[in-house]
Amino acid sequence: MQYGYFDDDAREYVITRPDTPWPWINYLGCGDFYGLFSNTSGGYCFYRDARMLRLTRYRYNNVPVDSGGRYFYLRDNPAQSADLQSADIWTPSWKPMKSSLDRYECRHGMGYSRISSARNGLAFTQVSFVPLEDTCEVHKITLTNESEKDKSIDIFSFIEFCLWNANDDMTNFQRNFSIGEVEVHGSAIYHKTEYRERRNHYAVWAVNVPIEGFDTDRESFLGLYNGFDSPDAVFAGKAGNSMASGWAPIGSHHIKAQLAPGESKTFVFVLAYCENPDNQKWEKRAAHGVPGVINKAPADLLLKKYSAPEAADKALNDLNRYWDDLLGRFTVDAEDKKMARMAGVWNQYQCMVTFNMSRSASYFESGIGRGMGFRDSNQDLLGFVHLVPERARARILDIAATQFPDGSAYHQYQPLTRRGNNEVGSGFNDDPLWLICGAAAYIKETGDYSILEEKVPFDNNEELADSLFIHLKRSFDYTITHTGPHGLPLIGRADWNDCLNLNCFSAVPGESFQTTANFESGVAESVLIAAIFVFAGPDYVEICRRTGRAEEASRAEKAVASMIDAVNKHGWDGNWFLRAYDAHGKKIGSSECEDGKIFIESNGFAVMAGIGLQDGRAKKALDSVKEHLDTPYGIVLQQPAYREYHLELGEISSYPPGYKENAGIFCHNNPWVTIAETMLGRGGRAFETYKMICPAYREDDSKLRRLEPYVYAQMVAGRDAPRFGEAKNSWLTGTAAWTFVSISQYILGVRPVYDGLLINPCIPADMKGYTITRHFRGADYHISVDNSAGVEKGIKSVTLDGRPFEACAAGIYAGAFVLPVFGDGKVHKVDVVMG
Ligand code: BGC
Ligand code: NOJ
Repeated sequence: MQYGYFDDDAREYVITRPDTPWPWINYLGCGDFYGLFSNTSGGYCFYRDARMLRLTRYRYNNVPVDSGGRYFYLRDNPAQSADLQSADIWTPSWKPMKSSLDRYECRHGMGYSRISSARNGLAFTQVSFVPLEDTCEVHKITLTNESEKDKSIDIFSFIEFCLWNANDDMTNFQRNFSIGEVEVHGSAIYHKTEYRERRNHYAVWAVNVPIEGFDTDRESFLGLYNGFDSPDAVFAGKAGNSMASGWAPIGSHHIKAQLAPGESKTFVFVLAYCENPDNQKWEKRAAHGVPGVINKAPADLLLKKYSAPEAADKALNDLNRYWDDLLGRFTVDAEDKKMARMAGVWNQYQCMVTFNMSRSASYFESGIGRGMGFRDSNQDLLGFVHLVPERARARILDIAATQFPDGSAYHQYQPLTRRGNNEVGSGFNDDPLWLICGAAAYIKETGDYSILEEKVPFDNNEELADSLFIHLKRSFDYTITHTGPHGLPLIGRADWNDCLNLNCFSAVPGESFQTTANFESGVAESVLIAAIFVFAGPDYVEICRRTGRAEEASRAEKAVASMIDAVNKHGWDGNWFLRAYDAHGKKIGSSECEDGKIFIESNGFAVMAGIGLQDGRAKKALDSVKEHLDTPYGIVLQQPAYREYHLELGEISSYPPGYKENAGIFCHNNPWVTIAETMLGRGGRAFETYKMICPAYREDDSKLRRLEPYVYAQMVAGRDAPRFGEAKNSWLTGTAAWTFVSISQYILGVRPVYDGLLINPCIPADMKGYTITRHFRGADYHISVDNSAGVEKGIKSVTLDGRPFEACAAGIYAGAFVLPVFGDGKVHKVDVVMG
């Protein structure tokens, strides 16, 4: 069943009924200010940090779901104003009143959303976005009288202020119920809780027209025992002009609008974060019995800017240009519209969201718990480095600065302080290697080797600073100096699979597997880390070579070769790659095991790293993956699922079978198999695995899948789960970056490498061709691929700007077509004929 459709020309997903199977959201913002925005105007916003600087309150796991947002209540008054009871009252975004609407539509676009609805001849449009330049949400509301009669309308806005620290806001009521403070001036409501002490920032919720009245105290507006769906003030048709004092500060404007038939009126609401220098906090300091008056200069400036609707239109236009520009860097045109829209638009959009949010704030991540992951951030980079290379550069340096001197890493760091986070700790032994992957991706995209010479602290300590190159070296060395009995890397607390906790042995209910004492067995080894090492190692070798470090390059090359040996000797189970050895030296992911006989990660990654391509193991491994792990909705993480909790395996076995790391379809690692399949030249199978987890292909199946058809989810319940096929954790997942890598670089085959753009498509035989435009190092490549030969892989000829172009004769890209770096700001035409 469908709940909407893609409008490809507008780059929008159009939701056509409000009762989606789960709130379908969008992200507003791309700089310092962000809003999460659901299809019924639910959600919240924050400045820079979703935990510490949250402007509006949001209750996760609430009943009903998705309660709280930026709400507008409409009240259509009867001709006889005395007859107050018969006014028609509704919320045009459907929620919170779940009003019946004559029409409804929500368009989620690139950084903005537009809700349009109508009831009884009154049309409503809400365009919501965060302007590029300002720290605010803009909500432009237009009412149009589509009826034949005059209309007398009351509009009530409503937002609920969060007392900034979202965690404290939800827990510390003995204090919070006494500290709320507001000011109201004209049509602007200022939220200034804690401003009297150590904050120098406040929030303002304003509208560009004179108001009838306002409310700032939740109880006065709603009524103590009412929900958002039955506010007293709206039913009374009159705001109470309440001033919050403690309890729950809110912002509600009451506006009256008279509309002749056919007439429209527009209102611009702005919800902003404003900051003052410490010494200019007050317009008037507090006196006895009189609270201080905040300095409103920054708010005045901002509100003045958006006092006219045209300013909002211009800001939205600027935002659209920004996205045109970004998404213009990689575009796809193909017969398969689902693939084209995902690869060309939505997948990249999601990559930008993971860049901005990491794993902090979604409808599954509360914005309170998680910092930026060392591994996550490096992988996310693979998906956005072509869009914002300068910001990727800064991100790499931030991440590296949290690395420990021995090459290991804090698992997470905090976005505001950019410091490693002690609460989650360290010891995830795959972490260091992702820094090599991230840095290599950046260099391949940009050709900027100077990043390697940047001085970067270790553990944020300037005294320990050394070049980024040394950071990569320490990452590399950490892996080879921490190996176990089979010469394979020690797993530490876990590897990519956070839940494979082989040294943890937790028997205490509720104890965190991420932080509980980790007993270093010196025995538990990870075949996956070995594969990541073999994948990242050659990049390290290449980087050494290209920066005059020949000796280090050959040392590293030997280390990679011996890791391959170790995998071949001790990481192969006969029909697939093993997953790990536990702390007792027992195999994990082997046919000898009762449960967890075969895992996806080590198989996908080992083949992606090129292991077994020559001796047939790669093919065998991927065939086994297909045979044992395939489902129509993607490839499950392992089989059989663990039926019981295993002390020696940790969190993985804590999940009920079919969910998350216990045999869920953990989408993040599916593209590793996709890429691996392209290594074997099996384009049909590669594309099949791509499609299985790609949300656009499951649009018709939204009732079961439940989540947004325009973004990837972290997990889809596996076949062992009662809710097989149902997705969870959309938006903030490494799936976004890896699927983009798999489709753009390996299936469509346009891959940035050290010397240029390598072209090597691997597609289903029945894909006739496609075109791609790719901005790369200062030039635009217009690439058209012709597969009228109906092959899965192989290039017959390449023409570059009208002249025949040859494959490389020698070097690491021998036999491959690598388009040169032009950097001339021009368009270069590339015709690729497969065959
Ligand atoms: C989840 C994992 C996640 C980890 C993050 C675990 O509880 O199951 O998917 O990687 O927490 O810290
Ligand atoms: C989600 C985490 O963010 C990621 O780092 C991890 O690799 C996967 N879960 C698998 O456990």
